Amino acid sequence: MTEPSSKTDTVKIRIRDLRKSFGPKVVLDGVNVDIVPAESLVVIGGSGTGKSVLLKHIIGLLRPDSGTVVVDGTAVETLGNREITEFRRKFGMAFQEGALFDSMTIWQNVAFPLQRLTKMSRGEIDDRVEECLGMVRLEGVSEKLPSQLSGGMRRRVGFARAVAHQPEILLFDEPTTGLDPITTALIDEVILDLSDRLKTTTITITHDMESAFRIGDRIAMLNRGKIIAEAPPEEFKRLDDPRVQQFIHGRAEGPLSEETPARGPSDSRDDLGEKTGESGIPSRS
Ligand SMILES: Nc1ncnc2c1ncn2[C@@H]1O[C@H](COP(=O)(O)OP(=O)(O)OP(=O)(O)O)[C@@H](O)[C@H]1O
Ligand SMILES: [Mg+2]
Repeated sequence: MTEPSSKTDTVKIRIRDLRKSFGPKVVLDGVNVDIVPAESLVVIGGSGTGKSVLLKHIIGLLRPDSGTVVVDGTAVETLGNREITEFRRKFGMAFQEGALFDSMTIWQNVAFPLQRLTKMSRGEIDDRVEECLGMVRLEGVSEKLPSQLSGGMRRRVGFARAVAHQPEILLFDEPTTGLDPITTALIDEVILDLSDRLKTTTITITHDMESAFRIGDRIAMLNRGKIIAEAPPEEFKRLDDPRVQQFIHGRAEGPLSEETPARGPSDSRDDLGEKTGESGIPSRS
């Protein structure tokens, strides 16, 4: 694992010894990682290892038990309610659950951050909404409600909404899960383009290893509350850690399968076992 750099000015997001438990369940047990400006970091790891929890700490939706998340020199956990609202302008986030506003049309959903966070005119917003929907090949759905779209289409709307206001930092939680390979490649292209052209700093969680290697400047693997490996894609593929090898090849047998899944009384998410297998090996869908 690379030693974190000591130069704050070259680090966009710095995570130090981040710990979070829910009741008796330890989810993050000392996470350390640095993300430099314009970098595309991909986070992988079994189901329930705390990837979504990690992202939620970066945007201040969850507070650490201890440790710190520093974004552009500001420790997120020290921000008050008003400051956090301002702070979140930097971010675009596509949540795993989609999290669209059900009673709002697709147009209203994608326009929402533009109306709230920018001074764009109605005409400019119209153009930008069309552009973002076009980017994910969703033309002609502006007037529909989320419930009228398929799951994959809703996910693409969530993606379009996240990127609409051209944030400095994008957080994508499984942006391509459940999408067909062509749409997945399309979303990957958009992510690559954003970091190349707009120098957006991006963190993407994915179970799709092909996507991970395509879009990541660096891959980090979360396991048992810690980042157990991080490296650029080509190097990552060659790491001899058997947990890494088992995960990237999606093997049923291996050290990850021998781990007792960390499950506590508060865990009501057994449905996720279906998706990835109890050991958290990524499904190859
Ligand atoms: N608000 C919460 N309250 C209690 N437990 C929580 C909460 N959020 C997450 N957890 C628990 O933390 C653990 C990690 O959850 P998380 O959603 O981060 O997993 P994940 O790595 O994103 O998994 P997946 O790949 O299935 O999305 C899970 O056991 C989950 O039940
Ligand atoms: Mg998750």
